Amino acid sequence: MIKTSRPGRKPAAALLAWYDAHRRELPWRARPGEAVDPYAVWLSEIMLQQTTVATVKGYFLKFLARWPSVEALAETPLEETLAEWAGLGYYARARNLHACAGVVAREFGGRFPASEEALLGLPGIGPYTAAAIAAIAFNQPCVAVDGNVERVIARLHAIDTPPRRAKPLIRETTQAMLPPSRAGDFAQALMDLGATVCAPRAPDCPACPLADFCAACRDGTQDRYPVKEARAEKPKRRGAIFILRRGDEVLLRRRPPKGLLGGMNEFPSTPLTQDVAPKELRDHAPCAAPWRALEEPVSHVFTHFSLSATVFVAKTAAAAPPAHNCRWAACDNLDKEGLPTLMRKAAIRAGLVEG
Ligand code: ADE
Repeated sequence: MIKTSRPGRKPAAALLAWYDAHRRELPWRARPGEAVDPYAVWLSEIMLQQTTVATVKGYFLKFLARWPSVEALAETPLEETLAEWAGLGYYARARNLHACAGVVAREFGGRFPASEEALLGLPGIGPYTAAAIAAIAFNQPCVAVDGNVERVIARLHAIDTPPRRAKPLIRETTQAMLPPSRAGDFAQALMDLGATVCAPRAPDCPACPLADFCAACRDGTQDRYPVKEARAEKPKRRGAIFILRRGDEVLLRRRPPKGLLGGMNEFPSTPLTQDVAPKELRDHAPCAAPWRALEEPVSHVFTHFSLSATVFVAKTAAAAPPAHNCRWAACDNLDKEGLPTLMRKAAIRAGLVEG
């Protein structure tokens, strides 16, 4: 149930006044009076789907410098986009990014559609991203509810249900707050408030423009919201990564185009989505060689599981790569191969690249 907050001054007006004074300077964010570039908004929102603002800044600037328009990105081979994406993780997003650029360039004449509905039809754009782009790039009256916004709204109205179940209620409540204009600023103001003032721990309520309206602040129950849900732990899997050296070269394999880390270069490995028993790890080596297991496995948390991978190393004098999807790559050029983070960790563990 929503507990009533103090009537009177409008929360949205207070929030927008706060935003005008305290908005974060972000490289994809238009300054007041500046035209918004929908391409930059889209690019940033796709990147922000999976990582923090701090990490995205560098990637965003690199992408924008290299591909200043959606057409430029669409004309680039997918491989190059995947390589620039390395380190952001979850490569399906990079493939969708590239596919979306293609659709916008070819079917929309290089202009992103403005409606939430049309945006939803594009590759890689889900409900949150469609709402965020429609609001920020086109000032449509749409609400983009992410974890930060959920926290702000859950506290504001002391919503007693965990966000997963309270999503429709949180959306409706946010929608009801929308100011008559400035939907884009409203969306970004909520994001900024959640990221800076209404922090998960120790929110800075004295600095909050919504404090007068906030049920949790009034009751001193900020720590209770959003209500937590008992979370199932991610399954733990074991695997192995095989680093085969041949002089100054190392064996790389191309992963299948679809699925986990699709299309990426890797050191040959066990099927990463399966848990492999320790005594069966060596069965997955790409070829017979005097394999030696390094002591500490490398670990990585994927979206649906966490993996602990033993790194095996060996040397060979064999001329031909052991399989058609394998090749020899120069060790001192590994930084350019766009290795996924897990493989980079293995390369560091084996002393192939610096950490
Ligand atoms: N998180 C998701 N989208 C964002 C944006 N446009 N600005 C700041 N944080 C965000």
